Amino acid sequence: MMQASTQTALQSNYASHVAMLQNHTRDALARENIDGLVIHSGQAKRLFLDDNNYPFKVNPQFKAWLPVVDNPNCWLIVNGVDKPKLIFYQPIDFWHKVPETPIDYWVEYFDIIYLKQANRVEKHLPYDKSKYAYVGEYIEVAKALGFELINPDQAMHYLHFYRACKSDYELDCMRMANSIAVKAHTAAKQAFFDNLSEFEINQAYLLAAKQGDNDVPYGNIVALNEHASILHYTVLDTTAPSQHLAFLIDAGASFHGYAADITRTYTTQNNEFNALIQAVNQLTIDLANMLKPGLAYVDVQVAAYAGVAKILCDFGVLNMLPEDAVEAGIVSTFFPHGIGHLLGLQVHDVAGHVVDDRGTPKPPPSKHPFLRCTRIIEPRHVYTIEPGVYFIDSLLSDLKSTSNSKFVNWNVIDQFRPYGGVRIEDNVIVHRERNENMTRELGLDL
Ligand code: GLY
Ligand code: MN
Ligand code: MN
Repeated sequence: MMQASTQTALQSNYASHVAMLQNHTRDALARENIDGLVIHSGQAKRLFLDDNNYPFKVNPQFKAWLPVVDNPNCWLIVNGVDKPKLIFYQPIDFWHKVPETPIDYWVEYFDIIYLKQANRVEKHLPYDKSKYAYVGEYIEVAKALGFELINPDQAMHYLHFYRACKSDYELDCMRMANSIAVKAHTAAKQAFFDNLSEFEINQAYLLAAKQGDNDVPYGNIVALNEHASILHYTVLDTTAPSQHLAFLIDAGASFHGYAADITRTYTTQNNEFNALIQAVNQLTIDLANMLKPGLAYVDVQVAAYAGVAKILCDFGVLNMLPEDAVEAGIVSTFFPHGIGHLLGLQVHDVAGHVVDDRGTPKPPPSKHPFLRCTRIIEPRHVYTIEPGVYFIDSLLSDLKSTSNSKFVNWNVIDQFRPYGGVRIEDNVIVHRERNENMTRELGLDL
């Protein structure tokens, strides 16, 4: 149950959120000479040769408008001027739970039509579709309905680009997602120190979040010991290891379709790995503080790379100067991913690699190929900051086979290998005058 104060805040900011979307829609349509968008929430997707469906994942362009994330066969018709029309699927069905008639703060902003049969939507859609664009995943459905404009590039670029700047309503949703994830991370930390298995720790996390596997925004990474060296480790071992040395958890939560994406690393040991966690934690804090309007996010990546180089040299992993480690690119062995990404309706939110609302591309620098964002930072952007230091067998053996091997203290590496690696990830709102590190302000330190 949501707290009354949260509900009130959402309610009071929702009108301006819809007004913002109306403006974006109107401007995108005017530029492309389109009359309106018909946004499809999605539909059930069958498993091959089966009568079960994949979990339903709503079209992000649909959930941008309203907090309905679990109902396929819904449609929104918007033109940026008229009151949006919502076709809300409400079948007669004794097999499944039928969506209830919504009674919520958002309802008054839509003219709502209830749809009993998914395949009877046509009569509710514009008759002349020549200047309406279908926005959604089901191209064949769109064509069968008579749409010629389907996810038109330029309109999509426009909508995606501005999604990075969040309304006050969206920022409240993101704070809520973070606060749920913070609570769940605290439970998972306790489960680690109670020596539970990865599977059990994940259960503790989900229970505290009150979210299921299909509710959280991405598959939780719950990695004990050397499993932390696998960047996207999503196996959940049901057997606890003989010793709990280290624990990396990268897990989020959802609220009204908005994502949190938080990582913490813990150890039971009071040793150099513990000191390494502290060093990466400080780097996360410093880089989060570095965000500011006007700065290129690429500069945060460059600073992160230099920061990790310094850590590697300070800890004796490398026997060279940090600037030389940067120059030689050796840091990428230990920090192979980007420093973070835009966060919002999707965990890796759209439009990270463009410079403008026409979608002019800006790819990541060749030295940082996995950086997910090259945008200039603006107020109301929300970013993750997630530096890491990992001991990844395959990358280490690549490094060993090069002439740079001589700069590596392999005995130090061997001491760190059983711990896998460290990542500390916070979620930060950039304001004009300050940054709001939601993850910390909501109480998750180390
Ligand atoms: N959880 C995936 C990421 O941190 O980007
Ligand atoms: Mn993450
Ligand atoms: Mn992330």
